[in-house]
Amino acid sequence: MLTLHPVPRVRGEITVPGDKSISHRAIMFGSLAKGDTHVTGFLESADCLSTMDCFNRLGIYIEKDWEHPGTLTVHGTGIHGLYPSYSPVALYSGNSGTTTRIMTGILAPQRFITYLSGDDSVNSRPMKRVMDPINAMGGNVVSMNDDNCAPLKITGAPLHGITYKTPVASAQIKSAILCAGLYAEGETTVIEPAPSRDHTERMLSAFGASIVKDGNKRVTIRPAQQLHPVDITVPGDISSAAYFIAAALLKPGSELVIRNVGINSTRDGILRVAEAMGADIKKENIRGQESEPYCDLIVKSSALHGTTVEGDIIPTLIDELPVVALMGAIACGTTIIRDAAELKVKESDRIAAVTEGLAAMGADITAADDGFVIRGGKPLHGANIHTFKDHRIAMTFAVASLLADGDTVLDDETCVSISYPDFFRDLAGVTEE
Ligand code: S3P
Repeated sequence: MLTLHPVPRVRGEITVPGDKSISHRAIMFGSLAKGDTHVTGFLESADCLSTMDCFNRLGIYIEKDWEHPGTLTVHGTGIHGLYPSYSPVALYSGNSGTTTRIMTGILAPQRFITYLSGDDSVNSRPMKRVMDPINAMGGNVVSMNDDNCAPLKITGAPLHGITYKTPVASAQIKSAILCAGLYAEGETTVIEPAPSRDHTERMLSAFGASIVKDGNKRVTIRPAQQLHPVDITVPGDISSAAYFIAAALLKPGSELVIRNVGINSTRDGILRVAEAMGADIKKENIRGQESEPYCDLIVKSSALHGTTVEGDIIPTLIDELPVVALMGAIACGTTIIRDAAELKVKESDRIAAVTEGLAAMGADITAADDGFVIRGGKPLHGANIHTFKDHRIAMTFAVASLLADGDTVLDDETCVSISYPDFFRDLAGVTEE
């Protein structure tokens, strides 16, 4: 439990921790490459440590530089080099849907049996979305409780390429299929209804895989003989920056510099929506264009107005939608978020969690099946917030607490360790007088 107080303003400078999606992939693809992958800016959060632990159990030695946080070397054993220390191997993916789903694609073509399970949240999230395409490739992935969820039993089998149209835009599904395609006979193509984040495509290409994009919704991979290590610099996570962007925009008199924020165009929807709402955000020092672009953001408090967030932009800010709903609650006019039914199957049902929390604080919000309608401009007051042990709900309401009249109590703040272990320290650093 944590009690939070309103603050006068947000000021100063912050560097948010490394991108979670890119950190997961650095461990995964570094493990499958033959040789040493050096990683800097790695996110040392619970989710990424779950991925690391899975690969440790598959025989991969990952060396951490204790003097430089976020710096490590993955001693990859090559594309056919995963050797579990015992068989069948049991892997635990914790709270991480990314680990669970992408690992399913990596494990399906191996020559051993894996049992893959997560915590209660992961084990209640839909896995049929990866089981169906992987099994269509010849895989043998079974939901052990027969409920289309983890725990999964993955019996390694030879795979063949397919062309698969995913019903939902999801980088986790796409990445699982592409990873399986690395081992499959023939080509594997994924077609999405809208473009999802493309970190897998970028990083696997850099490691030497043959990946061809046709527009931004169709990607094809050919089987790889081997992957070659490359050094990876992980930019700051725009999903973590989003809380500070919102805090600085919404709290009058604020000005904040956020350094090294990843701005890959499949992730930057929050900046585009903020701009549409009238935000004053400047990008400076844009760099990293050859792999993953990043920049410094200068954010100034702004009088926001409502907007409609829908369609292809949704996957580019899916994790930021809770904090966009908060921005809508403070903005003047109505904000509509739709086409975001995926929010119901995240770490918690985020449509329910956001609606409950914002309504408790006095906002005028109505839940829909695929989003929210928020009639902004109502003053927020402190309340008891149920976080549902969801890191993004906890951080969204930590920002809301800065703007509210009176104290706000989070029932569980420890869940921020999933993506941002030092969140409250960093927040205090830019809000204390
Ligand atoms: C992620 C993809 C997204 C996102 C998640 C991380 C990834 O999930 O919400 O936090 O790293 O591939 P979906 O693939 O379910 O959209």
